[in-house]
Amino acid sequence: MSTATNTASTIESVLVENRVFPPDERASKGARISSMAAYEALRKEAETDPDGFWAKRAREKLVWTKPFTRVLDESNAPFYRWFDDGELNASANCLDRHIGTPAENKTAIIFEADDGSVTQISYKDLLTRVSQFANALKQEGIGKGDRVIIYMPMTIEGVIAMQACARIGATHSVVFGGFSAKALQERIIDAGAVAVITANYQLRGGKELPLKSIVDEGIALGGCESIKTVLVYERTLGNWNRVEGRDKTFTEVLEGQNTHCEPTPVGAEHPLFILYTSGSTGKPKGVQHSTGGYLLWARMTMEWTFDIRPEDVFWCTADIGWITGHTYVAYGPLAAGATQVIFEGIPTYPNAGRFWQMIERHKVSVFYTAPTAIRSLIKAADSDEKVHPKNWNLSSLRILGSVGEPINPEAWVWYHKNVGGEKCPIVDTFWQTENGGHLITPLPGATPLVPGSCTLPLPGIAAAIVDETGKDIPNGSGGMLVVKRPWPSMIRTIWNDPERFKKAYFPAEMGGTIYLAGDGAVRDAKTGYFRITGRIDDVLNVSGHRMGTMEIESALVAKTDMVAEAAVVGRPDELTGEAICAFVVLKRPRPTGDEAKAIAKELRDWVAKEIGPIAKPKDIRFGDNLPKTRSGKIMRRLLRSIAKGEAITQDTSTLENPAILEQLAQAN
Ligand code: WT7
Repeated sequence: MSTATNTASTIESVLVENRVFPPDERASKGARISSMAAYEALRKEAETDPDGFWAKRAREKLVWTKPFTRVLDESNAPFYRWFDDGELNASANCLDRHIGTPAENKTAIIFEADDGSVTQISYKDLLTRVSQFANALKQEGIGKGDRVIIYMPMTIEGVIAMQACARIGATHSVVFGGFSAKALQERIIDAGAVAVITANYQLRGGKELPLKSIVDEGIALGGCESIKTVLVYERTLGNWNRVEGRDKTFTEVLEGQNTHCEPTPVGAEHPLFILYTSGSTGKPKGVQHSTGGYLLWARMTMEWTFDIRPEDVFWCTADIGWITGHTYVAYGPLAAGATQVIFEGIPTYPNAGRFWQMIERHKVSVFYTAPTAIRSLIKAADSDEKVHPKNWNLSSLRILGSVGEPINPEAWVWYHKNVGGEKCPIVDTFWQTENGGHLITPLPGATPLVPGSCTLPLPGIAAAIVDETGKDIPNGSGGMLVVKRPWPSMIRTIWNDPERFKKAYFPAEMGGTIYLAGDGAVRDAKTGYFRITGRIDDVLNVSGHRMGTMEIESALVAKTDMVAEAAVVGRPDELTGEAICAFVVLKRPRPTGDEAKAIAKELRDWVAKEIGPIAKPKDIRFGDNLPKTRSGKIMRRLLRSIAKGEAITQDTSTLENPAILEQLAQAN
């Protein structure tokens, strides 16, 4: 019962939000889409003639070495193909195209290091460095279609590595620097990668953290024979271990490289990258993205969502290890010819004013970050006036963005007032790794904003809310978020697993061609605005990082000397959105007190080693057993209630061992 009540009360609290913020004049004046009427017109155009709509933009916004004649090929749905007889190169579309234009000498990247030192690079120089690195990759025998793992810190070199792969038609797979050796090994094997590009260390929050040694450890776990080369960017003077014949430094491979590298044309459907993300079952899935459709969307959304202008300084704080750092750091801003800030460090070092200080210092005009960062900076500003944004001049800001998880109205209003000076629209962008770019988002010059709502779909995005059978649900009621028509930057397949792709995203019960997002959503009865109510599968969102509960469970039970059984659920957390709670049955008697604390620590460290520190459970509770039905199924909804600290009001009559609930509720 209480599950239903909870859902109802969440939706109700969601619907009572009735503050509306009309677009500020600064944002709408001269905007590409400057009114709701203009938005409506675009939406209609995309709906009436989708092929014409996308063909026109693909021709206008991208440079093709061979023009396409086909737009959307649905013959093998849901394996949709876009512009598939056309050829282009992503790197040429991000760099070469600006040469000979006013953007040529413009700053492409303003890099601020962890220690505050700043380096700038122009489009022209970035092209030179990408070309040299691309030539180095070629010299190492890497070519079109090869997979390359990138395990790098947030640096200009990280972007160069991605762009250089794109330039030679190699498919990159960036692994976030916080993932473990084991996670890295799994991705190397699944991708069949031929090389790893890494750094000796990464610098974050004043600490020097090893990366190269984790690569060594990952490869040593076995099965990585496909790796022929490891390229090491020496970010610091720190020592690292060299494996002769396999490892080379950037300096060594760049020595004497030609500054010109002809971009390799690839088909529009050629996989630009694979990015691993968590699902509700099994191991992380390799989300495969295309070159043409993906890049078109990266460029279009820079224009639509951020209304990017030549004089803008754009700053997306996401790491290149996540999709946001692909689309809105490595590709989108460059395709749009923008100047962007790249930051190596963390928002709280040397203090929690770092973001505000950097916005002032670099005159950032479009700022894009995650609710979890905003919430932690609110908390810091509340307890220390000196790090409150009011201490900095943030008047350069024009547009604010939010991404990764629902933004709670309190955080929204604080962000709007204290960072945006009540003058900057907040684009609350809903999308996923699988989507390539924004799906549902306000347009800064047009959309009246409602805190906590991602508002309306972009033109060409047939977002809808349906029931299990794919039938539309009326506005005002909650259901499952789907997209009914393909769009250019959608996931193409799961690398090595087309069956899982079909099953996970295009359920047969809905006809097999409708994209299922995996989120619950509700549309406002009056405005039709969307609100995302959270994942409907076993995927957690912790600080905007996506984690599968199964993945964490598998990691826990892999500690075979200790763990008999484990169940992982999420619970709401003020700061991180959701927190990971693990219920664990040990192979020894249930520990209590200090022993329980010590074992919990051991298990947390174990999970950090298996997956990465971001997957560490916040709560670990030990039980003699887990609540199960007579058929042996773990009753997760009961565990969710216990994790939240709620009284159990659900029906427990099917439970085999009801007494376990009390034990788990007390264990802490
Ligand atoms: C999941 C996707 C998109 C890049 C970062 C995350 C949640 C994302 C929002 C938002 C509410 C959001 C969803 C989604 N999510 N943006 N604006 N409002 N929820 O990508 O790791 O693939 O995670 O993040 O639950 O399914 P991801």
